[in-house]
Amino acid sequence: MFTKQTIRDIDVTDKFVLLRADYNVPLANGSITDDYRIKQSLPTVQFLLDKGAKLIICSHLGRPDGQPDPAASLFSVAKRLQELLGQKVEFATDCVGDKAEKAAAKLQPGHVLLLENLRYHAEEEANDAAFAKQLAVLAEVFVQDGFGVVHRAHASTEGVTHYLPSVAGLLLEKEVDTITDVMLKPARPLVAIIGGAKIADKIDILHKFIDIADFVAVGGAMANTFLAAQGVDIAKSLYDKADVTLAKDIMAKAAAKAQMQPFVFALPHDAVVANKLDKTAPTRIIDWTAHVIADIENYPKRAPAISSHIKPDEMILDIGPFSASFIAGALQLANTVVWNGAAGVTETKSLHDPIGPTAHGTETILEAIVGDFGHKPFSLVGGGDTVGYVEARGMVSSFNHVSTGGGASLELMSGRKLPGVEALLDKSKVE
Ligand code: 3PG
Repeated sequence: MFTKQTIRDIDVTDKFVLLRADYNVPLANGSITDDYRIKQSLPTVQFLLDKGAKLIICSHLGRPDGQPDPAASLFSVAKRLQELLGQKVEFATDCVGDKAEKAAAKLQPGHVLLLENLRYHAEEEANDAAFAKQLAVLAEVFVQDGFGVVHRAHASTEGVTHYLPSVAGLLLEKEVDTITDVMLKPARPLVAIIGGAKIADKIDILHKFIDIADFVAVGGAMANTFLAAQGVDIAKSLYDKADVTLAKDIMAKAAAKAQMQPFVFALPHDAVVANKLDKTAPTRIIDWTAHVIADIENYPKRAPAISSHIKPDEMILDIGPFSASFIAGALQLANTVVWNGAAGVTETKSLHDPIGPTAHGTETILEAIVGDFGHKPFSLVGGGDTVGYVEARGMVSSFNHVSTGGGASLELMSGRKLPGVEALLDKSKVE
């Protein structure tokens, strides 16, 4: 149950409302390549406009490091928002000071203004009190709806709440409620699929899922680090030497749990490899278990040494078909699945291969979650690359919840307090 006040708990009619959204969307040559975050903010924006708020929206885009940078301008977001809302969206070329104040003062009830990138000012990320006050003077009420950024204690997520009554938007409420519910009372079996580059970035979530899940599968480049920790030859594969000890600790924890209760910690046992990261490079499958089969005559006299048969110039780019099928099998038994991180490199599709030679592991997982096997688990997806893949496949609506947050959803799943949520008014204080 969401414990913070929301826009349903306050009166915004005729009021200046400052809404923090997360419009940190991918851009290519100034065009938005993925507007999921903008679309997900619309229920809150529309609710406030329908109530007659004078709506001022602020956001960051990218990491311009406290300097104005045209490549990180929110102007194209204003245009897209205007199309999606079907009404004029004003744009101010600065988020504080004269330009912002004049543009805000002109707003009528039901009108909307988008401010330029908050991170053009270093004070935003520094959570500078004077900057937070400059934001606060624009409005009478603050609404936090940028779920993707509430794990940051910045001026527009934490500082500003000291100067304005501050409540949550509908997206923030939905994200926090859904993710918290899944983590606290998942329908079992709970399957977690974790991918990504670095174990260190996902260490908390790995520990958490070993604690609460029934089956944890690891993919992506981080799986290579686990393989390296097991002594598997991964040749040129991307991995993180510094994380090998972390990998060993996690494997030991998983093994200890599996001794006590039914639990599977699934690392890949086959892989798609190539000698370069290029969609035209030939790929092949290697299988660490193949030599065990070949050596069956000696079994159990001689324990087979682990050997991946990878060539010295090759790298692992995806989990192999057996590993993907193993995960797919677990998914067909699951009642809840949390998926964060692709299983391999997913940006390799071409005209001739609409999935891409190193995206078949990720695709198998997607199909196993949404496929019609007469049983569908509750599905929660988070993380930029996973969400991007699900969107590119046009499958967002087939999942129960596709989170707009990357780091924020990971921190929430790990059980951490989110400063941008903590700072909002508590529900119990509704009069
Ligand atoms: C995100 O994309 O995860 C959020 O917008 C936060 O961005 P940040 O990692 O640059 O703070």
